[in-house]
Amino acid sequence: MATETDEIRGIGHSVRRKEDDRFIRGRGNYIDDVQLPGMLHMAILRSPYAHAKINGIDTSAAQAMPGVIAVVTGELMAQHNLAWMPTLSGDTQAVLATDKVRFQGQEVAAVIADDPYRAKDALDGIIVDYEALPAVVSPQSAMADAAPVIRDEKEDQSDNHIYHWESGDKDKTDAAFAQADLVVKLDTHYPRSHPAPLETCGCVADVDPATGQATIYMTSQAPHAVRTVFALVAGLPEENIRIVSPDIGGGFGNKVPVYPGYVVATAASLLLGKPVKWIEDRTENLISTGFARDFHMHGEMALKRDGTMLGLRTSLLADEGAFHADAQPSKFKVGLFHIVTGSYDLPAAHVAADGYYTNKAPGGVAYRCSFRVTEASYLIERLVQNAAYELDIDPADIRKKNFIDKDQFPYESVTGFVYDSGDYHAAMEKALEMIDYAGLREEQKKERSDGKLWGIGLASFTEVVGAGPHKDYDILGLKMNDGAELRIHPTGKAILKISSKTQGQGHETTFAQIVAEELGIQPEDIKVMHGDTDNTPYGLGTYASRSTPVSGAATAMVARRVGEKAQKIAAHLLEVDENDIEFHRPNFTVKGAPDRAVTIQDVAFAAYTNFPDGMEAGLEGNYYYDPPNLTFPFGTYAVAVEVDPETGEWEVKRMVAVDDCGVRINPMIVEGQIHGGLTEGYAIAAMELITFDDDGNCIGANFMDYLIPTAVETPRFELGETVTPSPHHPIGAKGVGESATVGSPAAFVNAVIDALRPLGVTNIDMPLTSAKVWEAIQAAKAGGTGG
Ligand code: CDP
Repeated sequence: MATETDEIRGIGHSVRRKEDDRFIRGRGNYIDDVQLPGMLHMAILRSPYAHAKINGIDTSAAQAMPGVIAVVTGELMAQHNLAWMPTLSGDTQAVLATDKVRFQGQEVAAVIADDPYRAKDALDGIIVDYEALPAVVSPQSAMADAAPVIRDEKEDQSDNHIYHWESGDKDKTDAAFAQADLVVKLDTHYPRSHPAPLETCGCVADVDPATGQATIYMTSQAPHAVRTVFALVAGLPEENIRIVSPDIGGGFGNKVPVYPGYVVATAASLLLGKPVKWIEDRTENLISTGFARDFHMHGEMALKRDGTMLGLRTSLLADEGAFHADAQPSKFKVGLFHIVTGSYDLPAAHVAADGYYTNKAPGGVAYRCSFRVTEASYLIERLVQNAAYELDIDPADIRKKNFIDKDQFPYESVTGFVYDSGDYHAAMEKALEMIDYAGLREEQKKERSDGKLWGIGLASFTEVVGAGPHKDYDILGLKMNDGAELRIHPTGKAILKISSKTQGQGHETTFAQIVAEELGIQPEDIKVMHGDTDNTPYGLGTYASRSTPVSGAATAMVARRVGEKAQKIAAHLLEVDENDIEFHRPNFTVKGAPDRAVTIQDVAFAAYTNFPDGMEAGLEGNYYYDPPNLTFPFGTYAVAVEVDPETGEWEVKRMVAVDDCGVRINPMIVEGQIHGGLTEGYAIAAMELITFDDDGNCIGANFMDYLIPTAVETPRFELGETVTPSPHHPIGAKGVGESATVGSPAAFVNAVIDALRPLGVTNIDMPLTSAKVWEAIQAAKAGGTGG
């Protein structure tokens, strides 16, 4: 019998995050909370040199220290064929150094002790005989003839070059440039930054020597892929490997790669027959785990005098660090950088990229971005701003003139993407209206006449998320699809198991809302499980805003599959043909007789108690989703700043962000994602930087040097939205997790450059610290143009 129920809190409801109950009570279960009987502790000795030969390692003093159970070196790992491991880019990476160290902070040896402090203390007892070698700290110096070869252990490697990659049409682009009235150029470095999650990386490896069962608790954004990599590297049977990613205190791409610490802890547990815990400290996290960006970019845009864009030419040098370990689809060497044409209807473009080894930590992770789209978005939006100045066209107008029009979708870009949908003009108009662009420009004129440095910056980004269709997207051959499994219990409560791994994005709430939308079960009645490879379906993990586009789609599809069976059972209960059943959440009703109804809960009970003859019992299913295309969130960001000419400090007066991520599952969570992303974008524009001195010493190795904004520095954000559903996603959603970090740095920088424009400043590389801005002002006053 049907019942009147509350409105189902499916898509579009700002349901409070279910997971927050445990987090705000301090009841989360993070990696350092995992305690196992007899557990030992591991600490890692890291190289103080960026580049040095290892002549020998003496572990005898460390071995004799109190509480020390074992000291592991690369030599010992080599005896088990584990001194080197594959990276996600198909390169190799030293697990523990044997021949040389290649970056400061590289793993050299590990101590296993009965206590974490004793393990750390014993690192001082390991004597390593290093012979320092010259360090290479930029791709420009890596390509010099006299540069030392960093990867001299590789037989086929005679220099530091890793790859050359191109996209687009070079001849067509050259022809477009030949037609141009104006060519605008920009050289810029998108500096190395670090995702710096609150929780550092770590693991607890528990290998049972009797059964061969390896259970590894690990801070991983991609537990299933890690399981397969472990099986392939260590030769362990995959069914005996269980990766459990418990609660994760932020990932942002940093927790995608497999780090040497995981491998050493697992090998140590195997050899010692006891669980081994390894937890990084903050400096270890900042100096040795997946960095982001570090692209030296050159861009040229060809235009007609009226502002029409004719072509785009970009070349870039990627600083990959000592091991090529980028976490990105195999086919695309610089991730999805070739989305660099952005939101514009560019008839020709060509992208060339070269990657180099340097004596820096490896990584190249998707730090809140879809595999290098951040760098691309920054480059085009800075170029467009400069083009506007040179043509004396308003920066908003030049964008509007060249935007892909909403009638042009699906739009095939010249670098090979098919943009599924968009309405760039609408997002731009909304942002301009919210910030009162015309009024601000008037105000700017007045402030400028009073000698003030006032600037307005725009950035219109097009994102590309949801990797990806199996034809083009894989990591180490593994296709980037995702699974979902849904089981409805007799009482109508459900368990959804997903291949995604949440790191704070609220999937336990939003994915339950997707099922609620499809089946009419309230989100609080749906438990969402993730992060345990024994108990969830296969998938490639959570990064690059792929959860909603891929795993979220799998969730909607499995709910629909289960819904089809539910409809058959409802027909059986109501004694009509299944084609005569309609579903009005949460009721199945008879067409034309809405009073004859059963709820999804009635159906669930019947699935175990009263199902038709010939039907299997139960109400459950699974689904593996292969997206037909990527999906393309977009937006326009507008920023107003005032720069203090005496100090170089810049203050954000207004920041308006209009995002379009398609249908919003949970508007409150989406806004939280955007706030976080904007804060990270602001941080990269203003203060976050990992840099190196000439000897390869990492500067930015702690939170005194690597500046993370607090609530005090973070500007106020004003959010707006437009909604352009993805035409191919089952619920019309696109991703949002990264857009704000992708789109906003250019808006902040464009605003500061706009403020300094009257002085003749055309570029300052990020981060725009007050010292750098001040220097640019002084250089401009002295006759230069900044830089
Ligand atoms: O891959 P990741 O989860 O980091 O990014 P995402 O797919 O963009 O999702 C981030 C969070 O925002 C998740 O909880 C999503 O379900 C939610 N979201 C939403 O509510 N509506 C959208 N259109 C996109 C994401």
